[in-house]
Amino acid sequence: MYENTVKRADIIFAPYSTYPYKVLGEMIKKDKDAIIQELIDSGLKGRGGAGFLTGLKWKFAKETQNKEKYVICNADEGEPGTFKDREILSQVPRKVFSGMALCAYIIGAKKGFVYLRAEYNFLRNDLQKEINIFEEEAKKLNLEFSIEIFSGAGAYVCGEETALIDSMEGKRGEPRNKPPFPVTDGYLGKPTVVNNVETFVSTMMVCNMGLKEFSKIGARGQKGSKLFSISGDTPKGGVHELELGLTVQNLVDEFGDGDTKAVQVGGVSGFCVPRKNFGKYTIGYPGKLSGDSLPTGGSIMLFNSSRSMYNVLHNYVDFFCEESCGQCTPCRVGTQQLLKGIEAIKANKKPSSYLKTLVKLAETMHVASKCGLGQSVANSFQSIVEEFREEIIY
Ligand SMILES: Cc1cc2nc3c(=O)[nH]c(=O)nc-3n(C[C@H](O)[C@H](O)[C@H](O)COP(=O)(O)O)c2cc1C
Ligand code: SF4
Repeated sequence: MYENTVKRADIIFAPYSTYPYKVLGEMIKKDKDAIIQELIDSGLKGRGGAGFLTGLKWKFAKETQNKEKYVICNADEGEPGTFKDREILSQVPRKVFSGMALCAYIIGAKKGFVYLRAEYNFLRNDLQKEINIFEEEAKKLNLEFSIEIFSGAGAYVCGEETALIDSMEGKRGEPRNKPPFPVTDGYLGKPTVVNNVETFVSTMMVCNMGLKEFSKIGARGQKGSKLFSISGDTPKGGVHELELGLTVQNLVDEFGDGDTKAVQVGGVSGFCVPRKNFGKYTIGYPGKLSGDSLPTGGSIMLFNSSRSMYNVLHNYVDFFCEESCGQCTPCRVGTQQLLKGIEAIKANKKPSSYLKTLVKLAETMHVASKCGLGQSVANSFQSIVEEFREEIIY
């Protein structure tokens, strides 16, 4: 239970106490529905940011009838401030492949892909060697499942699961309308599970530890541990595995430099928490016990008082302008108007009251944009503008 400090965990990178393919061998002797139920009961939610129940996703894909199904590991890792998937793929790729194979066994897929961020191409040779080892082990287990690496398209939006699938199909990587979801209409129109790198490792963690042990980790109704990519004004930047259910204050106490004025939780698509609210927010997924909780794919950026929050906001909005795929008007035009708007206020060409209009625009983008990119611009925009108004205006 969290009290005043963060609780560290050492499970994801822990050296293999049991060979992961041995654990996989044990798992595939079990009933598929029982494994799904265990994952659902564990409350394990996707570690890519959206926080959907992993067991439920696998259940939907299993229940969709089709001879051809796919498993995709989302290793696009494009959210600014996150770098934990790179570490997992470098240090414990076998845990990832075991999780993918377990998913394939359950849903009935024979083919998997690792959608690898283009900037991580330096990992490719080592990963391919590991895949070759995996495929030998899979044969011994009579598992008909192979894995291929697909090099990412170099765009933030291609981390969105349907844009990712489109880019794999050779199309321009743009988000699709949902529904239908990939679990029924995914890669090549076939049922497909797309999970984050860390999620696949976490599924093996639940299966290996068992529900009872897994449920002991975490606090305030949050279960399990998670990797956090910690950066910014901190003497302890890097990837840290922490039990879920910590507050922003816990994080600041452990990782701050003594002068933290704001923490950006969840990358540019997440929320900016000012000092006065550090104790108010729990980091994790919404739930009865967790109060005001902030979901995150693991990106945590700390800012001290030397930072201009106008510059931080400008940087974020500029990023969104650059990365908007341009497919829908609220996002394509909205991001540009937000950028021009804050620049005009700063240059005294617009009155400070114009900020209200811009916040309204961001709220409209939240409801009218087609995908999570445009929908989430309001998170950081609104939280920075409302909490650091003076810095934006003057
Ligand atoms: C603009 C955008 C970028 C995204 N980038 C990533 C990413 O790099 N990695 C990732 O795992 N999920 C990313 N997602 C979320 C995916 O669409 C999807 O929810 C996730 O891969 C599902 O895996 P999970 O359930 O294991 O979290 C992104 C979503 C959006 C809207
Ligand atoms: S919200 Fe933005 S990124 Fe998403 S589809 Fe629309 S234009 Fe593209």
